Amino acid sequence: MMSTAIASREQPELGKVIFSADDIAATVRRLAGEIKAGFGGNPVHMVAILKGALLFAADLMRALDDYPVTVDFMVVSSYGTGRHGRADVRLLKDLDHSPVGKHVLLVEDIVDEGYTLSYLLGNLRSRRPAQVQACALIDKPFHRAVDVKVDYIGMRAPDDTFLVGYGLDFQERFRNLPHIRQLPSQAPR
Ligand code: IMP
Ligand code: MG
Repeated sequence: MMSTAIASREQPELGKVIFSADDIAATVRRLAGEIKAGFGGNPVHMVAILKGALLFAADLMRALDDYPVTVDFMVVSSYGTGRHGRADVRLLKDLDHSPVGKHVLLVEDIVDEGYTLSYLLGNLRSRRPAQVQACALIDKPFHRAVDVKVDYIGMRAPDDTFLVGYGLDFQERFRNLPHIRQLPSQAPR
């Protein structure tokens, strides 16, 4: 009873593993190959969206191994998006370096309704980069509200579930899990 051993009043019980550490590693390797081909030799300036994309971005950088890569970060909070038919994305930390003239790869954890990615793409494109492409580890297409193009998609969520682990949180918990699990107690968005 591994899963109940870590359940408590403070910690909701975790559901089944949706993506194993091996699934994630294979996906990251595939994405790195696609990104190398897609950037055609141009240096990749990764903009990782914290905190959710923290583990994904770190593994993706490693998988890009000898390809020229620089990295920067933005922190956003997406509370309140979508459910009331409007975007409420707040920029909590901006880039450290100007993206002017750079070949930007936006690295996001999940695209759900699409408001967060749409906001970030608009923000970055307004700052005169050479180009902006977007990469998301997980696509949740079930409630898409904004028609946003994702150039590189890792895995599609199999169902309308709330996911935690590998950077994804529920109330700041579970980001440290090496795999991605369902959180059954959390109603689907
Ligand atoms: P969107 O604006 O609805 O596309 O919001 C996407 C953001 O919501 C992601 O960057 C995540 O931070 C968060 N999110 C959406 N679905 C999940 C989930 O299943 N688990 C954890 N975070 C999620
Ligand atoms: Mg996020």
